[in-house]
Amino acid sequence: MTEFSLLPPIRSICCIGAGYVGGPTMAVIADRCPEIQVTVVDLNQSRIDAWNDSDLSRLPVYEPGLDVVVARCRGRNLHFSTQVELAIAGADVVFLSVNTPTKTRGVGAGQASDLRWIEASARQVAACAKGHTIVVEKSTLPVRTAATVQAILDAAQGETPDGGAKSFSVLSNPEFLAEGTAIQDLENPDRVLIGGDDLQAIEVLASIYQQWVPNDRILRTNLWSSELSKLTANAFLAQRISSINSIAAICEATEANVQEVSRAIGSDTRIGPKFLQAGPGFGGSCFQKDILNLVYLSRHYGLEEVAAYWESVVQLNSWQQHRIARLVVNRLFGTVTGKRLAILGFAFKADTNDTREAPAIRICSDLLDEGAALAIYDPKVHKAQIASDLGQSAGETINESGSWMPASNVFESVSGADAVLILTEWAEFSALPWAQIAVLMRKPAWVFDARSCVDLPAARGAGLNVWSIGQG
Ligand code: NAD
Ligand code: UGA
Repeated sequence: MTEFSLLPPIRSICCIGAGYVGGPTMAVIADRCPEIQVTVVDLNQSRIDAWNDSDLSRLPVYEPGLDVVVARCRGRNLHFSTQVELAIAGADVVFLSVNTPTKTRGVGAGQASDLRWIEASARQVAACAKGHTIVVEKSTLPVRTAATVQAILDAAQGETPDGGAKSFSVLSNPEFLAEGTAIQDLENPDRVLIGGDDLQAIEVLASIYQQWVPNDRILRTNLWSSELSKLTANAFLAQRISSINSIAAICEATEANVQEVSRAIGSDTRIGPKFLQAGPGFGGSCFQKDILNLVYLSRHYGLEEVAAYWESVVQLNSWQQHRIARLVVNRLFGTVTGKRLAILGFAFKADTNDTREAPAIRICSDLLDEGAALAIYDPKVHKAQIASDLGQSAGETINESGSWMPASNVFESVSGADAVLILTEWAEFSALPWAQIAVLMRKPAWVFDARSCVDLPAARGAGLNVWSIGQG
């Protein structure tokens, strides 16, 4: 008999939040644990409808390989529903995978995480759970949030009106997947982190992951280390991007080449080659939010220098995006008013339809302020999303600012344009037919490659002027 056979078997999981994390994570758990019923719930009816769509190309999250996993499990042991209370009542384990964006008003606005959705979902669990329930923080949270979740649950613990009893264990199990590689990251994680003080609950959760993750990659820590490790992991990754982007600017001023510098420093195993790709700055829903949260926590604990240090990582990121917009204007004779600019890529990285904090938003907004006419093409981002991110409908001009229109492919986007800007590294942008493109553009024409994906000799050979990030 193994020591784990004494653990109560998990038959049913509920995940609150059917977003970029909840959806893919639960799909992989359902795939790897066919004996467990997994229900992903959300308040957003249209999101749940999209998860249940028979046309798998219409899932709300675009992620390579996700459709195959969902097709295998949906209706078998993976369910998407808006019946939050029912799913909580039937669950042995409840994951909280709701959004935790930066607060926009009140105390800590602009830095602290907005915990209203975490609190609301914890209260729902407190109200609806039955028997003993393991509550797992999957959202990224400020360190010591588990104390809040525990306090809400404690208030509901004990006898229930129907004569039953309810009790809870709280664990922290942050998610490290990156969008675009979520399925790969979930199926073969570098590590799974579980923080808690109820050792049996930790092993129950570990037993789920042990269905496919080697035990030595399942790290057990206390609650606070687990919560803080998630913010720290993102801060360290983002810091590398701001570091290399600062060096890219020096390269441009000195005729050094940032890719050569990346290769040279990345060959030192203490530094390593990953996350040294210079670009338009980091986007995505997490890096900026999580670093700002660390800044807020640092100030809360009176650590001003620590706060200023991490804040500078975010400041350098915004600077990089404004720098790119400025240099486009400068190269185009100091004005882009009325000029057509082709924008290739709007998502914050390739292989996702997510545009949250995408560098393209800040760069396009600066160019619209300068009066440009943008023709935007992204293979997975819908027109309505771009309009919402830019705060301006297609074709509309606001206060003498520029305008934008969606393009359905690269050729439509570049037709009549003075410049092409590559802002997302979609694979199709690495193999563009520059000779054909050049013919469609107004001369002198420019290519601004913020993602180092252009075949530079081919673009130059087609008579185009080229700027590529970090190439002096
Ligand atoms: P998301 O906005 O895509 O999804 C969150 C979902 O929760 C939404 O659909 C929302 O309607 C739902 N929700 C909110 N409150 C609810 C409630 N009370 N009941 C039911 N549903 C509710 O967010 P996401 O990108 O999946 O991120 C979720 C968390 O995971 C965040 O804390 C984030 O920082 C963290 N995280 C995200 C990523 C990523 O790559 N996106 C990676 C690791 C960690
Ligand atoms: C990031 C982390 O990589 C995940 O581990 C973490 O779980 C997640 O945040 C989160 O907490 O949400 P994600 O934001 O999905 O994942 O994507 P990344 O691959 O990290 O890219 C973030 C941004 O950095 C993108 O805009 C990307 O283009 C940029 N980047 C990345 C660079 O500019 N250079 C690089 O070398 C790597």
